[in-house]
Amino acid sequence: MSFFDGIPVAPPIEVFHKNKLYLDEQAPVKVNLTIGAYRTNDGKPWVLPVVHDAEVQLANDATLNHEYLPVLGHEGFRAAATALVLGENSPAISEGRAFGVQCLSGTGALRAGAEFLHHVLGLSVVYVSKPTWGNHKLVFTRGGFTSVRDYTFWDAENRCVAIEKLIADLEEAPEKAVIILHGCAHNPTGMDPTKEQWKKIAEVVKRKNLFTFFDIAYQGFASGDPDADAWAVRYFVEQGLEMVVSQSFAKNFGLYNERVGNLTVVVNDKSVIAGFQSQMSLVIRANWSNPPAHGARVVHLVLSDPKRRNEWMESIKAMSDRIKTMRAALREKLEALGTPGSWNHITQQIGMFSFTGLNEDQVNHLISKHKVFLLSDGRINICGLNTNNIEYVAQAIDETVRA
Ligand code: LMR
Repeated sequence: MSFFDGIPVAPPIEVFHKNKLYLDEQAPVKVNLTIGAYRTNDGKPWVLPVVHDAEVQLANDATLNHEYLPVLGHEGFRAAATALVLGENSPAISEGRAFGVQCLSGTGALRAGAEFLHHVLGLSVVYVSKPTWGNHKLVFTRGGFTSVRDYTFWDAENRCVAIEKLIADLEEAPEKAVIILHGCAHNPTGMDPTKEQWKKIAEVVKRKNLFTFFDIAYQGFASGDPDADAWAVRYFVEQGLEMVVSQSFAKNFGLYNERVGNLTVVVNDKSVIAGFQSQMSLVIRANWSNPPAHGARVVHLVLSDPKRRNEWMESIKAMSDRIKTMRAALREKLEALGTPGSWNHITQQIGMFSFTGLNEDQVNHLISKHKVFLLSDGRINICGLNTNNIEYVAQAIDETVRA
């Protein structure tokens, strides 16, 4: 007899499970297009040179120690992260209406935001895009939200954003529902609303008094330009919308396992900030008490030094350029093979992922026959492609689609 008798086995977390299946695979030729992490053209993880330099400097800085950070995090990092997403000249910052809360990567920022919105503001209804990142629903459910709903995002037939249905779903949402919006490089589809479409979304969010929760995990990584990738967030701020924005520095700094994130908060009346920060301190205290310092110090050092910041900009440009090259190459090869279907969506999409349109049977076939590992919804991590395996992957997709 044990307290733990009868615990049901939960389903595996797909990205980590598929990544492990790839690692355990013994076949001599195999390709990993699963978990969202950058790879070089040699298929290797990449420590950004500027991150390495910053780490060396930190390691040699005798003034640093391992004392606790404040509950809300490293002040320089919080300010730098907030300015990165809102823009250096953001009126919300200069008017004292915006601030950051250091969190454990994007997931921690989502969780802290969810708990705050539920336990402090009493909000219980959240809408996520259909489809969305595999963790959104779990984070909000465990954060206390009792109603986790979908808004239509994807038009599978035309492989684009289903803007009319999206707007219709938001029109039906009750007042004060929380709307999760992917700031750029939508995961998993890789397709973002156009500026005109974002304007329509902002209009309905404002008119219906919905609450904006941006999730921006790919700023700078998506297009190579951090300002361009933050356009939607900044537009919503310009429209006078209050919001929270979860930021991750996993992809754009390659700091995946350092769990560096920030929750940027924009309010209309700065007199609410003292109450907000005191209540958020209790949310953080009950979760991780205070955040780790290393990754935050690295990001702060890089963003606050113009020379290092330029080096970082060169690295994000290099990563996004390699992704664009691989998108073009995959499309070109599928078209050259005459693979049934249209493949122009691969180059219309942006960021790490492509929603290929392959169905679950085709995904299973690609894995079992060709050892090309991808997610069951057909999402591939474009970073897993390189000049050595692209021909193989294109041939494998071609054979699969014809099978
Ligand atoms: C992904 O979508 O593959 C990444 O964001 C990793 C994760 O935690 O799911």
